[in-house]
Amino acid sequence: MIVPPTPENISLAATLLCQGKLVAFPTETVYGLGADATNEKAVQKIFDAKNRPTINPLIVHVASIDAVDGVADLSADPVAAERLKKVLHLWPGPFSAVLPRKSSIVSLVSAGLPSVAVRIPNHPIALSLLKEVKRPIAAPSANPSSYVSPTTARHVEAGLGAAVDLILDGGACPIGIESTVVSLLGRHPLLLRPGFITFEELQSILPDIQLAGAAPVEQDAPLSPGLLREHYAPRTPIALRTALSESRYPARVGLIAFRAGDDFTGNFDYSVIRILSQSGQLTEVAANLFAAIRELDQMQLDLIVVDSCPAIGLGRAIMDRLVRATAKFSPG
Ligand code: TXA
Ligand code: MG
Repeated sequence: MIVPPTPENISLAATLLCQGKLVAFPTETVYGLGADATNEKAVQKIFDAKNRPTINPLIVHVASIDAVDGVADLSADPVAAERLKKVLHLWPGPFSAVLPRKSSIVSLVSAGLPSVAVRIPNHPIALSLLKEVKRPIAAPSANPSSYVSPTTARHVEAGLGAAVDLILDGGACPIGIESTVVSLLGRHPLLLRPGFITFEELQSILPDIQLAGAAPVEQDAPLSPGLLREHYAPRTPIALRTALSESRYPARVGLIAFRAGDDFTGNFDYSVIRILSQSGQLTEVAANLFAAIRELDQMQLDLIVVDSCPAIGLGRAIMDRLVRATAKFSPG
């Protein structure tokens, strides 16, 4: 059930979470599907509702830096603790840090790993809820496993329906793309998932940070088991515009363009064109991307064609999601 985020409904959501129920809530990135991270049965419900493989660990959300201590065992890894101090100013924000896990966080949350991903989201509704519930909340994106992440309450309902006990409606998520995930463990900090906090910004804070793919094989930080090659994919075949050869055009094709003013007629007759940003601003592209993919996925198209951008800054996160979304229908 979708409800407005009134104080009463936020209290109800907190009560439901304490009872081991599932509550979906908005964050500045995407909607999360929350459960009490200290309650194993509640956490199991997340995996069941999403049909998520239990090898894919969840992010634990808390309201304040003080509360991080209840999730991560910083005394277990002084190096990680030092690195954490340097990135604390990114919270609340679209940033998740992988740290040593405290035993009060059920091991299922972390897919059995000794680590845990922690985030303080920067969204008033999420923060009110987390403050009121006073427990760490495990929350992956509130979509069926491997589908596109939800950026509105309706997206959550369409994907998970009755499996969620309550959906707090906070409107559209302003950032629209999932948080940056960084492991602070091991020899080097490691960018596990690019997001709104860019690799370039992180390099200025943690100069020895490496990209997950570029890290030496013997590095001892756990990699992100959730980073599957095929992910974020709609049901309709979707391909990067740059990967298309003009010889094989299906009948009904939709285009997701990053900017207005490009010549869309050169290739073929698009049945529908969605422009994510008039000026091609990547913050707007990110904010509107998932909703556009979902919208075109409802249109019985034969193919969705999507623009690309250089994989630097926020473009790295956008292209990460698009390369995964298009992997199924791309050669190689
Ligand atoms: O923006 C976000 O991060 C959203 C909102 C709801 O906070 N959440 C989200 O969660 O995107 P999810 O479950 O869809 O993605 C979590 C990512 C996965 O790639 C997972 O592999 C990684 O974080 N992760 C979680 N715990 C980890 C750990 N202990 N070690 C390495 N990677 C971890
Ligand atoms: Mg997800």
